[in-house]
Amino acid sequence: MNTPDLKPLANHKNQAPTPDRADTSEQNMDNRELHISSRIPGFYELSIGERLAVVSSVAGLTDSERFHLGQFGSLNGELADVFIENAVGTFSLPLGVATNFVINGRDILVPMAVEESSVLAAASHGAKLARAGGGFKTSTTLPIMTGQVQLFLTSTCDFDTILNARKDELIAFANRGQDSLLARGGGAREIDWHYIPEMHSVVIHIHIDTREAMGANIVNTMCERVSTLMPGILPCEIGLRILTNLTEKRMAKAECLIPASAFDSPDYKGTDVVDRIEKAYLFAYYDVHRATTNNKGIMNGIDPILIATGNDWRAIEAGCHSWAARDGKYRPLATWRKTLHGDLHGSLEVPMAVGVVGGVTKLHPTARASLRLMGNPDASTLAQTIVATGLAQNLSALRALASEGIQRGHMSLHQKNLTLLQQHATSPRNSN
Ligand code: MEV
Repeated sequence: MNTPDLKPLANHKNQAPTPDRADTSEQNMDNRELHISSRIPGFYELSIGERLAVVSSVAGLTDSERFHLGQFGSLNGELADVFIENAVGTFSLPLGVATNFVINGRDILVPMAVEESSVLAAASHGAKLARAGGGFKTSTTLPIMTGQVQLFLTSTCDFDTILNARKDELIAFANRGQDSLLARGGGAREIDWHYIPEMHSVVIHIHIDTREAMGANIVNTMCERVSTLMPGILPCEIGLRILTNLTEKRMAKAECLIPASAFDSPDYKGTDVVDRIEKAYLFAYYDVHRATTNNKGIMNGIDPILIATGNDWRAIEAGCHSWAARDGKYRPLATWRKTLHGDLHGSLEVPMAVGVVGGVTKLHPTARASLRLMGNPDASTLAQTIVATGLAQNLSALRALASEGIQRGHMSLHQKNLTLLQQHATSPRNSN
């Protein structure tokens, strides 16, 4: 990826999933959501209670799910004490619902836990623009995680020949004791390796299908297990045994195609806005300072869903930023291009290792209710929703930056915050 391909794109239907991708033509959600609409005009003008009532009814939530979605601090002390060590309390974030999302032809409400004003508004606005072109087309690869087993060679050997001969045995050994994963169709699939000459170190990669789990524990267990065999196979000492968060075999992709007319406004011509969004993308492509802020905006869309669903957002952050720098220079994660017809095509593909069966995801009542709001997606569908939201967030930021700037919208939303801060500062109770 040394220079972006600047040829105008043909107006095309968004790409079909490639063969190594999960079949996502039908999103895998429970069917209570088949008829929901995520288009809820005036949603932001309602009170919190009214919004909760609307989304609960649209998504068909039970009373208990509705209760947990609308809780202010629903994690009790018992769970807090189970989740982490040294717990002394909990820390709450606002939970909102982004509207207007259409993903693979289906409407979906998107829960987002975040402290920053304007993130929900921007996600919903980006989704509304994408909706004008039919919404987002998304797909994922299979859920293949990768673990690393590092070996320090203690004498010279033909490790390629030896490892090739023992590969199947190592994969079988990795899978031993993983009956429930195997029964669910997962398990270690492949092993490969590379050499770090500066350290005389062979690094074995074990590629594992972890199905509906994010899979960190599965991967780390397999790595530690396989490492016990290694001194009998190669002259070596064992180094680290741990998953990589650069999950380049577990990717999620979203695309959208937006007619230029969707960007028309009294002050700006849509065709000009499309030109300026493409230039904004190129600015980020060539300038690392801009790329960093651009990608922060994408993570504004991604992290809040990870948090709302109890997923490990640090893992995804690390993977995405590493992916952004994969050609040796830090680049924008999404691409925005003008098509031959003058419309705007956007695409975002990033490592996206998320699960729907891990401890926090299943135990945290708000995480459970958030998943329920999305129709209890499988891990692949959740990953697709997340990446579509990252793309929507980027679109909304670039549209504003490429026209009136972000401060007008941002400051009006931020105003409530500032007013409260002022009241807080002048309150006698807070004078010390
Ligand atoms: C602010 O949280 C995010 C933006 O700075 C993203 C961007 O500049 O693209 C608006």
